[in-house]
Amino acid sequence: MTLAAIRALNATDIVLIPRKGEEKSDLAEVRRAICAKHLSSATTRIVEFDLPVREGLPADYAATVDDWHDRIAHVWSQQIHTELGQEGRVALLVWGDPSLFDSSLRIAARLKPKPTIDVVPGITALQELCAAHAIPLNEIGAPFLVTTGRKLRERGWPGDADTVAVMLDGGTAFETLDPEGLTIWWGAYLGMQGQMLVSGNLRETSQQIVELRRKARAKHGWIMDTYILKRARTA
Ligand SMILES: C[S@@+](CC[C@H](N)C(=O)[O-])C[C@H]1O[C@@H](n2cnc3c(N)ncnc32)[C@H](O)[C@@H]1O
Repeated sequence: MTLAAIRALNATDIVLIPRKGEEKSDLAEVRRAICAKHLSSATTRIVEFDLPVREGLPADYAATVDDWHDRIAHVWSQQIHTELGQEGRVALLVWGDPSLFDSSLRIAARLKPKPTIDVVPGITALQELCAAHAIPLNEIGAPFLVTTGRKLRERGWPGDADTVAVMLDGGTAFETLDPEGLTIWWGAYLGMQGQMLVSGNLRETSQQIVELRRKARAKHGWIMDTYILKRARTA
């Protein structure tokens, strides 16, 4: 939490906390813990609600997500209306920063009437990962690519990229790559208690990460991890 986020949190009337069911209950728990630690305003109330479940066929991904976002916007509206009526200030605690692989702003844009939205920038998992390993993200004057585990698995190493950051990997997509010349910087539960880090040659560290990941997931019931892969430049 940045100082600006703590100030914003304490200036709201309600904080909406989504409950995502048993499996991910730790994430609601993290949000509750953040409020317990940083919420000192006596006039701010915490409102918990059940997040609608995404329903639909994987083949219809766009339509499924569109429908899901509509239903979430509907639940937000209901909660806001019930708790505040026509006017008030609402906080949503977004994981990391809403600019990166997050749909909170797309969902908020569906609310009617359209609210005024103030985004307090957060710290992304990628920033946490780079800081934890004390590495810069890009090479000098070079671009980097941020992609998902699914895309890496489906399409392999992306084109002529030298640096690839991978998020939203439900598994270990790095195992599908030829490890020759690849270095990985991996991190799980970044910025949280129990943060885990591994770095090194992909060939040598791959199985260690797979095993650590499996055990951590079994222990916590969920895992969030992010990694950066860099390809050695050949002369
Ligand atoms: C839905 S995206 C949200 C990203 C978030 N908006 C951000 O700024 O980092 C979730 C993905 O972010 C990454 N992530 C988020 N929090 C993380 C954490 N504490 N440690 C490791 N990876 C994390 C994981 O790759 C996860 O699959």
